[in-house]
Amino acid sequence: MHQKGDLYYPNEDFKKIALINNREIYQEAEKDPVKFWEKLAESLSWQKKWEKTFEHNPPYVKWFVGGKINITENIFEKNPQGWEKIKDKNAIIWQPELVDEEQKIFTYKDLFEKVNKFANALKKLGVKKGDRVGIYLPMIPEVIISMLACARIGAVHTVVFSAFSPHALQVRLQDTEAKILITTDGYYRRGGVVGLKQNADEAVDNTSVEKVIVVKRAGNPVNWDEGRDLWFEEISSQESGECPAEEMDSEDLFFILYTSGSTGKPKGIMHTCGGYIVQAKFTGQWIFDLKDDDILWCTSDVGWITGHTYTIYSPLLNTVPTLIFEGAPDWPNPDRWAQIIEDNKVTTFYTAPTAIRMFEKYGLEVIEKYKFESLQLLGSVGEPIDDSAWLWYFKNVGKERCPLVDTWWQTETGGILITSLPGVGPFKPAFSGLPFPGMNFEIFDEEGNICPQGKQGNLVLLPPFNPSLLRGVYKNPEKYLETYWKDYGEKVYFTSDAAYRDENGLIRIIGRVDDVIKMAGHRLSTGELEAAVNLHPDITECAAIGIPDEIRGEVPIVFVIYKGKKGEDEVKKEVVDYIKKEIGPIALPKEVYLVDDLPKTRSGKIMRRILRKLFTGEDLGDLSTLANSEIVSKLKNKVAGNNEK
Ligand code: PRX
Repeated sequence: MHQKGDLYYPNEDFKKIALINNREIYQEAEKDPVKFWEKLAESLSWQKKWEKTFEHNPPYVKWFVGGKINITENIFEKNPQGWEKIKDKNAIIWQPELVDEEQKIFTYKDLFEKVNKFANALKKLGVKKGDRVGIYLPMIPEVIISMLACARIGAVHTVVFSAFSPHALQVRLQDTEAKILITTDGYYRRGGVVGLKQNADEAVDNTSVEKVIVVKRAGNPVNWDEGRDLWFEEISSQESGECPAEEMDSEDLFFILYTSGSTGKPKGIMHTCGGYIVQAKFTGQWIFDLKDDDILWCTSDVGWITGHTYTIYSPLLNTVPTLIFEGAPDWPNPDRWAQIIEDNKVTTFYTAPTAIRMFEKYGLEVIEKYKFESLQLLGSVGEPIDDSAWLWYFKNVGKERCPLVDTWWQTETGGILITSLPGVGPFKPAFSGLPFPGMNFEIFDEEGNICPQGKQGNLVLLPPFNPSLLRGVYKNPEKYLETYWKDYGEKVYFTSDAAYRDENGLIRIIGRVDDVIKMAGHRLSTGELEAAVNLHPDITECAAIGIPDEIRGEVPIVFVIYKGKKGEDEVKKEVVDYIKKEIGPIALPKEVYLVDDLPKTRSGKIMRRILRKLFTGEDLGDLSTLANSEIVSKLKNKVAGNNEK
């Protein structure tokens, strides 16, 4: 890349071979965004062509109305590139965590057969189109086989991150009324075995799950319910390797993925078939410049939307091998991730700022010996990337050669919507860049006026939006309306992010404006944390906030008012245990404060904003509107005292 002022541009040699290397695409898309998507959609294999490309009945959208399409046909036998040409290419490269365990590689043909066999096994268990299937698996090949098998027969998968607690899994299984849960005996994490089956056993009580299918991975002992549990391999191996693809309407439900919002209950984000497939294929292809000889490593776990779209569906639709890694990127050595890139000749590396900051913290000597010659492109996602992490990544991993795409999107958008294209640019540290072609973003003030350049406001998306925008919140239409279509009316999608534009039109994301904490790129709601803590019988009130953290972006802090008789350390431990049990170890707070009171307005609303400022050092502002302003100085001393410790 080369630099002009504070902007970076791709070099001529990269531009020459890039799939998209000039700005015309932006003009073309802007002229008629619906036509733009229509043209892209035409190159996929449809079971039946759509009748109408876009239908807007605010706040509801539909894309490719009347069309029929199955994603597995587009990945496998009806792949637009031709099945004969692609069937022997590598589809999955699985890297186990244990260093001395061998990799497993699946070609498209291997994968297709496994998907069909498992799809037939699901059918035999009575799974039909539209039925929900829970998937609680770590990063092992069977997670991909399971998702694709569901897609093959039109079952709706709902993947639950393997580090979520049994309770978090149970809530999701109850909400979706899943009949089947797919899990594993255990998996490796930092050298130890994490037993997942025992969590699954706990979770399925009081749900409609009839069968639990278990992948044998770690070989650890598990409890077995003869009438309910089945081994994945056993039921698959008996089946035929052929299974017809179900006919899927563009607007049939494809999957549900739960995410956190402002309130205590997670939302089941609904994605449908047609729009999602088109968006996943072409955003991945253009943004990562995916070509025949690429190998993509997207480090996101499949439990998150990034894992769905860019670890699995986009690379497979583009017939690019996807590398999946079971373990932690710094185990057993801090350079494990670099070794994996080098050993596998990864060309495209897509990770989160938290990981980049962690790599940076280990020091340059750790990666001194790596030249990263195979890398051609770097990506970042999930949270704002600051200048220093951007530059470190660009210089020391991309060797100033690879374009670095900072990609902004959300569980709700299904695919990337803001990032400069690698063969076009420009790139600027800490900026996500330009909206993807055809995307109509604005930055609004509170009244809905467009903010002038440089002024921070609320990031909104205007019609025709994007093909893979969420279609609803599962079983909760009010939540859909209230969360996304209330602030500026039913024709404006509100992202809940603050942002501004620079003089080049590049967008910088500031962060969430709702009560969502972004820890290590994951979404945690303060409401969810508070709901977990409030289960404690002697805690009368609590408040959770996110504060800045050097590595993880943000971390939660919890304040509690405790009325019992136990000692402070014991109460703190109990609070942590409640969070662990209700949500999982990923949500653990950095600190728990026992306090006498919380700052409140006269109407009784807790002022979390003030609590947050106690940590950021910002001016506390006018406290006269508080009903109990005297508490603020007490809290300030408590926080300061703790920081000195
Ligand atoms: O706040 C934005 C932040 O992540 C939120 C969406 O989170 P989630 O649904 O978990 O999806 C994450 C992966 C797509 C957004 O509202 N976010 C995502 N990407 C970026 C980002 N913030 C800054 N820069 C990004 N590149």
